[in-house]
Amino acid sequence: MADIKKLTNEVGAPVADNEHSITAGPRGPVVMQDVWLMEKMAHFNREVIPERRMHAKGWGAYGKLKVTQDVSRLTKAKVLQPGAETELFLRFSTVAGERGAADCERDIRGVAVKFYTQEGNWDLVGNNTPTFFIRDVHNFSDLNRAVKRDPKTGRRSAQNNWDFWTLLPECHHQITITMSERGIPASFRNMNFYGEHTFSLYNQQNERVWCKFHFKTKQGIRCLTNEEAAAITAVDREYHGKDLYEAIERGEYPQWGMYLQIMTEEQARKHYENPFDITKVWPHKEFPLIEVGVLELNRNPENYFAEVEQSAFTPAHVVPGIGFSPDRFLQGRLFAYGDAQRYRLGVNHNHIPVNQAKVPVQEYHRDGAMRVDGNYGGTPAYSPNSAGYWTAQAEVAEPPMPLEGAMWRYDPKDDPTDDCFRAGGNLWRVMDERQRALLIHNTAADMAPVTRNVQYRHAVHCYLADPAYGTRLAEALGLRMATVEALARLDHQGLIQATLSGTME
Ligand code: HEM
Repeated sequence: MADIKKLTNEVGAPVADNEHSITAGPRGPVVMQDVWLMEKMAHFNREVIPERRMHAKGWGAYGKLKVTQDVSRLTKAKVLQPGAETELFLRFSTVAGERGAADCERDIRGVAVKFYTQEGNWDLVGNNTPTFFIRDVHNFSDLNRAVKRDPKTGRRSAQNNWDFWTLLPECHHQITITMSERGIPASFRNMNFYGEHTFSLYNQQNERVWCKFHFKTKQGIRCLTNEEAAAITAVDREYHGKDLYEAIERGEYPQWGMYLQIMTEEQARKHYENPFDITKVWPHKEFPLIEVGVLELNRNPENYFAEVEQSAFTPAHVVPGIGFSPDRFLQGRLFAYGDAQRYRLGVNHNHIPVNQAKVPVQEYHRDGAMRVDGNYGGTPAYSPNSAGYWTAQAEVAEPPMPLEGAMWRYDPKDDPTDDCFRAGGNLWRVMDERQRALLIHNTAADMAPVTRNVQYRHAVHCYLADPAYGTRLAEALGLRMATVEALARLDHQGLIQATLSGTME
């Protein structure tokens, strides 16, 4: 055990003085010979690593998933077999804000879970909303530029944000969620979270079903109003992180029930809209939740940087029994995360303890910056090899995925089954009066600095979702109803053309 009283330098040699520079004379300049001082300054200058491009502000905790039900008919994944208990690390985040952003901003919350399964790591990288704004990878970097800082002013811009959102009608449902009371959770413990995409599961017989993952809070949903959040942010920007940390320290371990929604391949073929479109929901009446087990958070990290900042999740990490789907948005994510992490943390980021699998890792990756383990010693670095090392395990191959149609740049809006406003309208219709009033209040407040044309565009989308929704928002924004109704009769391109000018009254 190290003696905690003794300071050493970076290679373990004793340090004689950590407060007084070596100077030439009592009033003279510092000398180069103060190598400990040089080391301290140089290390400090390199301590900031790139933040995540989005989801930069976050908090994490360890926990476990306990499977209480039997879903083995759907998946052979060992992590989802009856009675299985699997350790995990989970990171909550906001999306748009940088590393120092306040926790209680109106935003969606990221929820990334790394399950350390006995078949390797499975990462489920989701959000606290069941759907997403957009559905094509092409739009993703633009979405983030629109919600992040304006290139000229360096400030966040409601105008950019709403302009982009309203030019893509598929955003409407997610805007409705973000502007609803759920846009600012009271705590991470008081919100649900979702895998959002359609994934696949396959069982021992290699039979595939499509699947969505849901996690429902056992602490109850609680949210903050704009006014409550502003009051909190004025005194505490780390409010959600503190709440999570302190609850775990008190032994109040937050829990979420884990559920699946399942659609067969046959049902998917006949579904009334694209089941692989991340902006769409699968109605619970038709695809009821199937209970799986309980996810619990029960241990705080020992070191924020080592464990939370350096954690790295990717939807590309799945285990046998869990797979992808034709969701074009998911397909794009399969590349983006590992690529971002090779830049943010380095090529060997999977060796950082929080990211390491708990099972032996036997691959042929070698070398690279910061390779700090034994680099597989003298084992063969190529495959195939005659020494009999590490061959592929064909028995875990996924069943083939049937696809249809020619390769092309398809616009989902050309699909006659596509309805960008159904889900937002349905959400409006299940809200009670208090929730509707909050949604209108929050939307009008968020849109207050935005030009009239963009306000009209959103009011028209709301009107198309439900006339009462559009009418209430138009009233709150002081828009002319006759104009909203006239614009609502145009098609998508017509509406865009009619609302391009910022001088609209
Ligand atoms: C094509 C669409 C998307 C792309 C290209 C993308 C890309 C990224 C990238 C590059 C990061 C930073 C990763 C890192 O530096 O470690 C990130 C973080 C994150 N993304 Fe996405 N993303 C997409 C859509 C989504 C969606 C739909 C969800 C939710 C279902 C999501 C949830 C998250 C979460 C939770 C994080 C933070 C992970 C953490 O805590 O470390 N993203 N995303």
